[in-house]
Amino acid sequence: MSEPILSANNVVIKFSLRGRVLTAIRGASLSLHEGTTLAIVGESGSGKSVFTKSFIGMLDENGWIESGSIRYGDRDLAQFKTERDWLSIRGREIAMVFQDPMTALNPLRTVGAQIQEVIEQHENTGRSEAKARTIKILDDVGIPQPELRYGQYPHEFSGGMRQRIVIAIALACNPKILICDEPTTALDVTIQAQILALIRAVQHDYKLTVIYITHDLGVVANVADDVAVMYAGDIVEYGTVDEIFYDARHPYTWALLSSLPQLGQKGEPLYTIKGSPPNLFADISGDAFAPRNPYALNIDFQERPPYFQVSPTHFARTWLLDPRAPKLEPPATIRQMRAARSGDDRG
Ligand SMILES: Nc1ncnc2c1ncn2[C@@H]1O[C@H](COP(=O)(O)OP(=O)(O)OP(=O)(O)O)[C@@H](O)[C@H]1O
Ligand SMILES: [Mg+2]
Repeated sequence: MSEPILSANNVVIKFSLRGRVLTAIRGASLSLHEGTTLAIVGESGSGKSVFTKSFIGMLDENGWIESGSIRYGDRDLAQFKTERDWLSIRGREIAMVFQDPMTALNPLRTVGAQIQEVIEQHENTGRSEAKARTIKILDDVGIPQPELRYGQYPHEFSGGMRQRIVIAIALACNPKILICDEPTTALDVTIQAQILALIRAVQHDYKLTVIYITHDLGVVANVADDVAVMYAGDIVEYGTVDEIFYDARHPYTWALLSSLPQLGQKGEPLYTIKGSPPNLFADISGDAFAPRNPYALNIDFQERPPYFQVSPTHFARTWLLDPRAPKLEPPATIRQMRAARSGDDRG
């Protein structure tokens, strides 16, 4: 496998809140491989945004990287201290697209001016060349009649089109890594699918490595090469899309898969994960998911599991993979998925 373009190792991120300290990211590690799309999934509050914002130096003011490294090329982004350090990385090397396109756009300026400004700042191009490139990018992100749309304001675009403009602004800097933080949850389902298809389409032309953040494991199958499952500030399972969908090993991943509406049995209530995530102000001993895990072993409450390797590309942090653990059948929904899959293979 290729060298990772970015690798985060044992990253711990803390926030100070009203005189107390909470640990939002608890020693998370991640390898991102060039040219691939990695999906990060996990329920609200699991740390998807905080973790990835640390890759571009955009943690809120009350947060800091306590320990760990974030390797990008020959640099360790975890050591960056000042805005100056980030200037060469943010936008230029690693760009991020957020959920609400309206907050990313200036309502008072035409979309063309907003894209072109980025091109002019980043490259020493003349105005007419920058304009031509702006129109090309508008076309690339699927804006019809780009010459006409160039001179229009954000309010003249629909929500989905606005998100395309935000993506265009990100692409204008030619970043190597594009992080999309739930870029579609504010949009309806068909538009969501279109934006996902767009990211797929531009990925090749712009030679992008993509991190796609979502709490919906269902959308991931169509966009991702690899999936990282996050729980309580840690990556608990990591693998290819196939490995996560058809050979998941962590009980939290099983729970996420079981709660997919697509997999629900007709007439049966949809599976929901019982309990709530841990308090991040408290010390967590053992596996953070243990109190919600119907399969938890005694050791899960005492000692934090290491990563167990399932395949060269597949890792899970659960004591169930320890050779001493009792052999366990995954829940029925997961078994059915596997069975349906092997049926497909034969057909
Ligand atoms: N500025 C902050 N101060 C204190 N705590 C914070 C701050 N920003 C984030 N957190 C906490 O860090 C944890 C992780 O938050 P994060 O926003 O990364 O979750 P997420 O996985 O992106 O969730 P969602 O799916 O809702 O976007 C949460 O418990 C959150 O409350
Ligand atoms: Mg988030």
